[in-house]
Amino acid sequence: CGIVGYVGNRPALSIVLDGLRRLEYRGYDSAGVAVIDNGALRTGKRAGKLANLEKALAERAADGIADGRTGIGHTRWATHGGPTDRNAHPHLSADGRVAVIHNGIIENFSRLRAELEADGIEFSSDTDTECAAHLLAAEMRTLRAAGAEGGPALLAEGMRRVVRRLEGAFTLLAVDVEVPDAVVAARRNSPLVVGRGDGENFLASDVSAFIEHTREAIELGQDQVVLITPTSIEITDFDGAPATGQEYHVNWDLSAAEKGGYEYFMLKEIAEQPQAIADTLLGRLSERGEIILDEVRLTDQDLRDVDKVFIVACGTSYHAGMVAKYAIEHWVRIPCEVELASEFRYRDPILDRSTLVIVISQSGETMDTLMALRHAKEQKARVLAICNTNGSTIPRESDAVLYTHGGPEIAVASTKAFLTQLVACYLIGLHLAQVRGVMYADEVAAVVEKLQNTPDSLRTLLAGMEDVRELARDLRTASTILFIGRHVGFPVALEGALKLKELAYMHAEGFAAGELKHGPISLIDEGTPVVCVVPSPAGRGVMRDKVVSNIQEVRARGARTIVIAEDGDEDVRAFADHLIVVPPTPTLLAPLMTTVPLQIMACEIAAARGHDVDQPRNLAKSVTVE
Ligand code: G6P
Repeated sequence: CGIVGYVGNRPALSIVLDGLRRLEYRGYDSAGVAVIDNGALRTGKRAGKLANLEKALAERAADGIADGRTGIGHTRWATHGGPTDRNAHPHLSADGRVAVIHNGIIENFSRLRAELEADGIEFSSDTDTECAAHLLAAEMRTLRAAGAEGGPALLAEGMRRVVRRLEGAFTLLAVDVEVPDAVVAARRNSPLVVGRGDGENFLASDVSAFIEHTREAIELGQDQVVLITPTSIEITDFDGAPATGQEYHVNWDLSAAEKGGYEYFMLKEIAEQPQAIADTLLGRLSERGEIILDEVRLTDQDLRDVDKVFIVACGTSYHAGMVAKYAIEHWVRIPCEVELASEFRYRDPILDRSTLVIVISQSGETMDTLMALRHAKEQKARVLAICNTNGSTIPRESDAVLYTHGGPEIAVASTKAFLTQLVACYLIGLHLAQVRGVMYADEVAAVVEKLQNTPDSLRTLLAGMEDVRELARDLRTASTILFIGRHVGFPVALEGALKLKELAYMHAEGFAAGELKHGPISLIDEGTPVVCVVPSPAGRGVMRDKVVSNIQEVRARGARTIVIAEDGDEDVRAFADHLIVVPPTPTLLAPLMTTVPLQIMACEIAAARGHDVDQPRNLAKSVTVE
């Protein structure tokens, strides 16, 4: 989601709307604003793109919303609650005095909501955010009743009391009609920056929202509250102790700012992967160590009745499905097939009530996948969607949905959506295994713990990618690049080759490492680059040894080997012309690491060849034709 706040001596509405326009890339399911004008709180919100809100505001008789000097605005990427007018932010307290906007997920919201409802509060949306508005209004009332002095400091104290009760990830912005010249904000996990102006101050998810007004920015740290007035910026921790953010001067231009200073959206999205994985895992594990899936309209009995799983998807999402097959068959012990959506229904697959069809789609709009879904439903199969786009067609037509929380993906070549799809597949595999009694809660928890370590491992990996960039620039003139892998390394090889084809317009192919000797090995010539994905030596050492033999086979025929192996696997060094090490990760989860250098390699080769990385020729982000 995108968030903007303003307080100063100019009309807030137009500044907030301009800021939202710059943040629309962060989500465009709905938009809304709240402005304080002459002792009244004026709000406007609409489902759909910002233009819908602007139209609605323009049609409205002037009620002061365009005049107020304090305002907040939000553009939404829906998580809890569908993308409707009612669920659009801001959310108001029951007395209509407090307005709140939010980016992130409040994990304990159902408990808080139950408590508030028990106190007689009626909710007017399905969002987790609304809790924060009611809680803040209640805290403000309590503080005032205790005789606390009004004014901005009170608002900051109210916010601190609220955030101490929240679990999850959030950036919250709030205004209170009784504190007209202030906006308060809190940050945990989700991004928040302050813009320091002259007689005015700004808040936003990223600097692009205010860069045309000021280039002096302060990035808030984890668990901080900030109060802005026209002339002051006060930062504290959640307990009220004074704190400082990180001050910096923005020297990028506007278009670079939207990309967070990265040259391409793809690089930004690659860098966001640790956070995207963490967000997708957030709130999925109950206190009893069980996996919680959202919008699952299938009973445990339905899941126990499943005797076969089909995974259907296109492109990169199909590769996520291929990895899922290994995980699901290993954990759940039921047969699982993976199929390209465009082929699925024409093959007349055998489906019935006890077949679970998992459709994977970042956009939720891919026509091939949608048609496969409809075919599966006609055959009475149960359909579970994995999707990154709340309220899109595929999840709407499915029996159940597990949303990935990757946030908007702008670059056509999928990166963070892929990794979060893998996470979603792992969660579904574990859930099925648990419900069907094949795995105990503690076994599931052990895998989840490993999953929870992957964002940190990935950060370490991303910090050391300079060698890969250099190698990529060197490979830019190769006439072909081959990729080999075994087990889950095989789909990684396919994904590495697909990325290169999509972005660099180079010939590239991925193979199962063992299949090479049955034909493709004759492609290898002196100096042919071959990227080899090596399995972890831990656990299934046999598989790793087999891949090492395959590397020797290609090397003996002149290949230039680029080996991706686990940190500590020293023996592979001897067979690698270039070694790329990734942090140790359990075998089934390894694609969360091994894919990433391949994404960077493709991006860098494409850039070195002078191509448009974010919008490669002939492709579209979401393909709505068959
Ligand atoms: C398009 C994109 C691919 C994507 C595929 C499936 O072809 O260019 O990057 O993997 O569609 O998209 P979906 O939104 O269904 O995951």
